[in-house]
Amino acid sequence: MMMDCQAWPEPVIRVQALADSGLATIPKRFISQPPTTTAPFLRHHNASLSHELNIPVVDLGGDPEETVRLVGEACRNWGFFQVVNHGVRHDLMTSSRAVWREFFNQTAEEKEQFANSPATYEGYGSRLGVQKGAILDWSDYFFLHFMPASLRNKAKWPALPPSLREVVDEYGEEVVKLGGRIMKIMSRNLGLQEDYLLNAFGGEEGIGGCLRVNFYPKCPQPDLTLGISPHSDPGGLTILLPDDHVSGLQVRKDDRWISVKPLPNAFIINLGDQLQIVSNEIYKSVEHKVVVNSKSDRVSLAFFYNPKSDVVIEPAKELVTEERPPLYPPMTFDQYRAFIRTKGLNGKSQVQSLMNCDNN
Ligand code: OGA
Ligand code: NI
Repeated sequence: MMMDCQAWPEPVIRVQALADSGLATIPKRFISQPPTTTAPFLRHHNASLSHELNIPVVDLGGDPEETVRLVGEACRNWGFFQVVNHGVRHDLMTSSRAVWREFFNQTAEEKEQFANSPATYEGYGSRLGVQKGAILDWSDYFFLHFMPASLRNKAKWPALPPSLREVVDEYGEEVVKLGGRIMKIMSRNLGLQEDYLLNAFGGEEGIGGCLRVNFYPKCPQPDLTLGISPHSDPGGLTILLPDDHVSGLQVRKDDRWISVKPLPNAFIINLGDQLQIVSNEIYKSVEHKVVVNSKSDRVSLAFFYNPKSDVVIEPAKELVTEERPPLYPPMTFDQYRAFIRTKGLNGKSQVQSLMNCDNN
């Protein structure tokens, strides 16, 4: 059956409004976690298993050679790390979180003006994928394009609070700069020319950049649902500004879920599928998910630093050898993400289904 990607398959449920209604139990549609399970390590809230571990922290202001080494190690072993001394002003991080929190705390009427559709996803949304009857996550979001500049349509960004567009503009510029710096560090660590990854992604003018602001309302039954289901990010590099007073992000490390404890004023960086492909799997994109809680809502800003949509992404020739043939077929990022936009998030099934060129 052909799927209609222009419209949502059923009325959209705004999770924040649902949570604000004060319900004691969550609708069935949101239940993704069985109350009992035979595999406790695959459940969330297992702090006893994960509390000693945290993702690596890299000081971007330290010795450059050491930074390259530490970033490389984190990319190979974790696919996730935090950065400090990253050059983005702390007051800009704080005001960015604040304007988005203000946006979500407005009336439904104000927010619904920006309601999105699955055709582009730009705007105010509450689900990913158009499969009828799909299990839903406990979150709303706002999605906008920042790069290339030709797609930066501020009329589609929230009009209120009044400072939002300006703050997002400045934040985006700073975060794109940070993404460029990290791409250089990764290129060097992989033994490539410093500009290799940026060029592979379409160059400074070509790269894609989108912001997804997530709002995770309080949840009366947090153990039964997830803020975001397990997924790997499809794009290049994700630069995440987490909430400063509540955590929720969990990262897969072998067979465990590790709760990330954000450092003050740090960004959380993770690799998306396109970097796994370009690096011919020297680096890996890692599955992650978000848990919710009953005490506090949570806001996060995920900036996706992506390849140009029509540039062909394939393993770097320099990283392909006789012993290590190309593990992925060439494909544009547009082709790649069409899958996710239809089916929604599903662990690492997308990148895995492409492994080995012969399968395609
Ligand atoms: C995402 C994501 C994590 C978070 O938006 O892709 O994984 O902590 N967000 O909100
Ligand atoms: Ni993600």
